[in-house]
Amino acid sequence: YPPRLVRNFSIVAHIDHGKSTLADRLLEVTGTIERNKDNKQVLDKLQVERERGITVKAQSVSMFYKNKGETYLINLIDTPGHVDFSYEVSRSLYACQGCILLVDAAQGIQAQTVANFMLAFDSNLSIVPVLNKIDLLHADAARVTKQMQSVFGTEPEEALRISAKTNLGIDQVLPAIIDRVPPPSGNPDAPPKVLLFDSWYDDFRGVVCLIAVVDGSLKVGEKITSVHSGLSYEILELGVVSPERVSTTELHTGQVGYLITGMRSTSEARIGDTLHLFQKPVEALPGFKPVKPMVFAGVFPMEQAEFDDLRKAIEKLTLNDASVTVHRESSVALGSGFRLGFHGMLHMDVFQQRLEQEYDANVIVTSPSVPFRAEMRDGEIKTIESPAEFPDTSFVKQFQEPVVIGTLVFPEEHLGAMIDLCQRSRGEQVDLSYLDETRVMLKYRLPLCEIVTDFFDAVKGVTSGFGSFDYDEPTFVPSKLVKLDIALNDVNCDALSVILHDSKAQEHAKSICERLAETISRQMFEVAIQGRIHSKVIARATVKALRKNVTAKCYGGDVSRKKKLLDKQKEGKKKMKMIGSVELSKESFLSVISKA
Ligand code: GTP
Repeated sequence: YPPRLVRNFSIVAHIDHGKSTLADRLLEVTGTIERNKDNKQVLDKLQVERERGITVKAQSVSMFYKNKGETYLINLIDTPGHVDFSYEVSRSLYACQGCILLVDAAQGIQAQTVANFMLAFDSNLSIVPVLNKIDLLHADAARVTKQMQSVFGTEPEEALRISAKTNLGIDQVLPAIIDRVPPPSGNPDAPPKVLLFDSWYDDFRGVVCLIAVVDGSLKVGEKITSVHSGLSYEILELGVVSPERVSTTELHTGQVGYLITGMRSTSEARIGDTLHLFQKPVEALPGFKPVKPMVFAGVFPMEQAEFDDLRKAIEKLTLNDASVTVHRESSVALGSGFRLGFHGMLHMDVFQQRLEQEYDANVIVTSPSVPFRAEMRDGEIKTIESPAEFPDTSFVKQFQEPVVIGTLVFPEEHLGAMIDLCQRSRGEQVDLSYLDETRVMLKYRLPLCEIVTDFFDAVKGVTSGFGSFDYDEPTFVPSKLVKLDIALNDVNCDALSVILHDSKAQEHAKSICERLAETISRQMFEVAIQGRIHSKVIARATVKALRKNVTAKCYGGDVSRKKKLLDKQKEGKKKMKMIGSVELSKESFLSVISKA
């Protein structure tokens, strides 16, 4: 295929604005899938994705389309729909020359629309604005077109108006892509330069990579080398995804397709990597970043006997998702387990659900934490991924914590409550603007550790479900951090230590002490619970005479899952642990450290 007849584009949209439905319609229009056959939503493949209606892993599809007497090869490159994956989104967008900016004509612009637009804009893509769901009675295309003009600067007449559900206007979409998105501009005669932008593990074929051929072409049997690892592989299979894999012998400049080599694990297929022919080095494509987890959580088997099953399940899942980091961890209360690192909260939720659903693993997940940094007096920068790594403060020049720029979009009557929520979360206002007369867009600089637990839920709560929140990639800024220890009758309980901002320590310590006091059962002697920074006591509680039952603090998630977890926790609560001379049940621990 000559590059001039190739178009590579993606669809960026807020969750539920109809990306998958539109993709299905385009696949039908081009005859890539049959109409009305029961293959709804080809793009969303994982079970959790279907259940939660979100796209986690990119799936891309090639289609053929006749326009004005010529047949075009059109590659729809899917991007993960969530900001946790903004690095992946930016790499997928790098394989495109244009994108559809899809907005629900009833809901208007949402936080994620803004965040994804910024990524597309930064990648210099041609943007085709499309209003979806114009069949809805309360669709207000004129209002949303105005919003798009004021926020994105798109001309009102450029916006297509469609309904992916009823097929209205679908015929305009691909001609608009062909007219407005430029063909890929690579050089067919240059040495091959290939972007690897996604990968997954196939039980039969091993690692499958999605690639975009930027320059030159690739042939089966050739040997390729990764710029970033230096490792070389033979090309065993090449092809396009349409929507099943169709093998070909070559892929040419501007094309997007899949590549199978002898890679053993997706950790070798690094997203954003550049591939070239063996011994024909090329300059790396810009923007590569090794994965750095931003949210950590401990994952433990409900029963120690299940440890091996959990280990196997985690191994299988990480085979497919190399961005999850895994370290062994043991805890006094919870026994042997793992400390896992994720891109963000959604990534963590999805992983946990897959563990439960696909491997039937009974797991305890501790409340999430974020990485901090310490700039030492000798100039070294230390990364602190767990309280155990918190350095002696006398050697520390300053601590740093990750912050993000959060975008919030919501009806204006909630402005006061939203500002309040952001301030309580140690946020700093960056911008406040109106999308139109009734909707506000707020930008806040927010510490990541303040939003990892329940900020999403709080935004939904404050706005009665009408607000949306999204954030960009974290950066590190100086911060006043302390390590809070919890001691029972003077013995520190490691598993309960946390790192947090100085201003939050008092309140947090008090709440942990109280929760522990409520769950620790009466012992032969009084139990003094203390929250301490260094050796300074900042909160205390004493165990009451009678044991009360406490419903563990619940965070997010769906109710049946929480209930299942609570039931399971009951089974485990008989098990006691000794912290010094104090007996502590697993339930007590869970009430303080569990995420569920
Ligand atoms: P993510 O995968 O979470 O990003 O969602 P999505 O953007 O892919 O949304 P999806 O295509 O799953 O559509 C969300 C909901 O909107 C579904 O219930 C669709 O049936 C519905 N929907 C999509 N397009 C239209 C439309 O044009 N009109 C109406 N009325 N409903 C639509």
